[in-house]
This record gives sequence, structure tokens and C-alpha cells, in this order.
Amino acid sequence: MSDFPPMQNDLLLRAARGEQVERPPMWVMRQAGRYLPEYHEAKGTNDFFAVCRNPKLACTITLQPVLRYRNLLDAAIIFSDILVIPQAMGMTVEMIEHKGPSFPKPLRKPEDLELLNKQVDVKKELGYVFDAISLTRRELNGMVPLIGFSGAPWTLMSYMIEGGGSKMFIHVKTWVFKYPEESKRLLQMITDVVVEYCAEQVVAGAQLIQIFDSWAGELSPSDFKIFSLPYLRQISQRLPEAIKSRGCEPVPMTVFAKGAWYALDELCDSGYNVVGLDWLHDPAEAVKIANGRVTLQGNMDPGALYGTRETITSEVERMIKGFGGGKQGYIVNLGHGITPFVDPEDMKWFLEEVKRVGSLPAGG
Ligand code: CP3
Repeated sequence: MSDFPPMQNDLLLRAARGEQVERPPMWVMRQAGRYLPEYHEAKGTNDFFAVCRNPKLACTITLQPVLRYRNLLDAAIIFSDILVIPQAMGMTVEMIEHKGPSFPKPLRKPEDLELLNKQVDVKKELGYVFDAISLTRRELNGMVPLIGFSGAPWTLMSYMIEGGGSKMFIHVKTWVFKYPEESKRLLQMITDVVVEYCAEQVVAGAQLIQIFDSWAGELSPSDFKIFSLPYLRQISQRLPEAIKSRGCEPVPMTVFAKGAWYALDELCDSGYNVVGLDWLHDPAEAVKIANGRVTLQGNMDPGALYGTRETITSEVERMIKGFGGGKQGYIVNLGHGITPFVDPEDMKWFLEEVKRVGSLPAGG
């Protein structure tokens, strides 16, 4: 808890708290992953979730981008997955090569809620994540802060009902529009687990918590206010208390609700320190709406990393300028996770250009 090595770089934590910084910190969602040859090498023929359950391997993979992009990345994010929560709640989830996650028995009708564990002991079910976090925090030796994360209730509910990724969201929309009360019951069950899960990540050594609501954009603005936002708020309200009751200090919290551009104003008042943005936002417009209430994080189109070096440079310049130069209230990231087949050298160029442009004097 408190006997971890002292921080050498705490830029991310300072920017998340809204403090003035010398340059904007940068990290990239999915920075440990399939675009890195060393990831494939470390993973070998292991099953994806077997890797998540192996603290030593999870630690090795978490450190890979931080070591490759030494002095560039300002954070590590623990290697795991948002779908470990449905597993802890009693569901089977498989990761199918070249396809993605798959639930052999998704929740298809309200009665299926009875199949979920009523009482989830997160320390027992997800102890491997906490072990991976503690090990990684020690191995990082204070180089950069370690981010913990969870899926948001709406996104996790979508996976649990759809049984995997989806284009039309037929099943979860059926729940929302035919069984709204049962949907809320499920969202509440997930929220309770997410709070405990995130609190234990902080006890284990996570220094910032990000909530991924990857499917937020599937809801209409009014349904977002019913089926996502209240649960995101509950998490930001309950998590600091849950951390304190375990004898630890609360940490900054980030919400990333992909596709929910219409909800930026509400998200800025939802109790999070940082609001993550996808690339559908114009940076200057977002800054105007946020109006200093939160730190903004994002938001270059991950696809721009398939472009030329010149394109990457101009996108970086446009982004950082749009966010006002980045000396306060800004964390650089992509608008979603880095995609497979990005050349790791192009990622390096992106990070180098961010560091160069972000270090220019304010107004420069
Ligand atoms: O960001 C990081 O580097 C930390 C690790 C991390 C993973 N998944 C590893 C992973 C994080 C933060 C996640 C979050 C996650 N997982 C989200 C939210 C972020 C987002 O992208 O919207 C979601 C929706 C999932 C569910 C999931 N896991 C999907 C849809 C897939 C398959 C498609 C894909 O994008 O890879 C995964 C698999 C997964 N999670 C891989 C990795 C490195 C690839 C596994 C492999 O093929 O080896």
C-alpha cells in the first residue's frame, strides 16, 4: 500500500488533479497489446484469460510499452480485461482468436439473472488482478504511475446479454425497452461489484482508475441518462469512501464514455476528475463545454497512426493546440485503443511529436 518505491514521474497524477504541468502527460489506451511483437512473444500460445490470471505474465506485458517507449509514456495500464467482472459474477467468457470475446451462455431473459452469483467476493474471484497490480507497481519502481480500470455497468451489461461484440445490439436493446426494471437490477448488481473491484485495485497499488463505457454511444441521449450515467455517478460517489474504508487514500478517476459526445456536459459534472474523449469531439469545442471543470483526455483518431509521419505530426499539432497547449487540464491519448498492425515505430513517432509539441512554451 504505502511501501511502494517513490515516484520519479507523477505528471499524469498532477494533470488529472488539474494542476499546472510542464507538458501534457501521455499514454495510449491498449498500449500493451497486439501491435507489439513482444506481446505476441510473451503471450505465446497461452489463452488470453490465462495470461490475465498470471500476475507475472500480466506484469511483463504491462511493462513492455513502458520499457520500449522509455521516457515517452507517462503511465502504465495494468494488463487485464473489462470482462473479468462477468467472469467473477459467474459467467463463462472465452477469448476467440481473431474474433474477440464470446459468452457461451449470455443472459437472454430476466430469469437468467438468477444464474449470477448473488454475493461476489472480489478478493477471492479477482485476486489475480490485485496480485498483478502489486507486482507491477513494485517492478515499475516509480518510473510512471499505474492505472487500474473497469468496464462501466452499461458496457458490461451489453456484453453479458449480447454474448460478445455486436453490430445491432438486438438482445440488450430488447432488455432496455422490454425489461427496463430488470435491466436496472442488473446494472445495480454490476455497479456494486465494480465499486469493490476498483477499491481493491487501489489497495493493491493502482494510482488512477479509468472506467471504460465503450458502448455508451449505442444509447440515445435520454436513455444514456437512465441506463448509464446514474451508475457512472454511483461509482464516482461510492469509490472514494470504499477506498477510505480500506485505509487508503482515494485516487483520481477517469470516465471514458465512447460515442457519448452528447453527454459531455453531464459527464463533466459526474464526479470524475478526468473525462476521456473519442475523436468525434472537436478539441476546442470540448474545452469550451468542460470550462475547467475536469481534465480532458484524448483524442486523436487511432486510424491516424496508419498515416504518414507528416500526417501524424499535423494531427498531433492540431490536437494539442485545440486543447489549449496542454499545460493544464489535459492528458494526451488516442480517441480509442491503438489498433493492430500499427507500426510500433509510428507509435514512437507519435509519442515523440507529442512530447515535442507539448513542451513548446504556452501560446507557442
Ligand atoms: O490498455 C491496455 O493496454 C490494458 C489492457 C486492456 C485490454 N483490454 C487487453 C486486451 C484493456 C484496458 C482492455 C479493455 C477492454 N476490453 C475494453 C474497453 C476498451 C475498449 O477498447 O473499448 C473492451 C471493450 C474489452 C473487451 C475486449 N477484449 C474485446 C472486444 C477484445 C477483442 C478485440 C480487441 O480489441 O482486441 C478483447 C481482447 C483484448 N483485450 C486483447 C488485449 C491485448 C487482444 C487479445 C489478443 O488477441 O491477444
